[in-house]
Amino acid sequence: MKFFVDTADIAAIKELNDLGMVDGVTTNPSLILKSGRAIAEVTAEICALVEGPVSAEVVAEKAEDMIAEGRHLAKIADNVCVKVPLTWDGLKACRVLTDEGRKVNVTLCFSSAQALLAAKAGATFISPFIGRLDDIHLEGMDLISDIREIYDNYGFETEILAASIRTVNHIVDAARIGADVITAPPSIIKSMITHPLTDKGLAQFDADWKQTGQKIL
Ligand code: E4P
Repeated sequence: MKFFVDTADIAAIKELNDLGMVDGVTTNPSLILKSGRAIAEVTAEICALVEGPVSAEVVAEKAEDMIAEGRHLAKIADNVCVKVPLTWDGLKACRVLTDEGRKVNVTLCFSSAQALLAAKAGATFISPFIGRLDDIHLEGMDLISDIREIYDNYGFETEILAASIRTVNHIVDAARIGADVITAPPSIIKSMITHPLTDKGLAQFDADWKQTGQKIL
């Protein structure tokens, strides 16, 4: 499973990237706002840091404008992946940009019917939003299962990028289902390490080691 980080925070990306845990990055207009930086500048910096795809999102509504924005964003670096919304215009832009050889991430997916259309339009990644479905009392993870089944039935190569991840369980459940990629905030990825029995065991080993009076170095 590939790990993308869902942030435009350079320091947070660098920390995980130094551990070899970053296979890509996703951003969106809200994350660019949070960074307080210009999209071109921060995207260029992320692309220089990370080898994998870095999603940068278009904001236009019409396909032709999305295509122009996508081409412009793609000039920032070779590893820019153009992110388009799951609308008809977004799918038109996806088809054109994909045919030009660019990577395209189709975002804001909330149904398996939408995911099927994105795959037909040649999307590199489909981004189903788990947390936002959970927020309205639906089972976000069911969408990941449904898309996995549909894509596998027909051998679609579009990668399932489980997005809007809010918990460690979201990551584990998406991995069990076979999502190709998860994108999560750095804080969630880092919290995957937490287990009370690890802390308890380490405290016991530390106390016992002190009693031996030994040193390794
Ligand atoms: C994915 O590409 C999106 O940027 C992101 O996962 C949205 O997550 P949110 O619902 O927590 O804003």
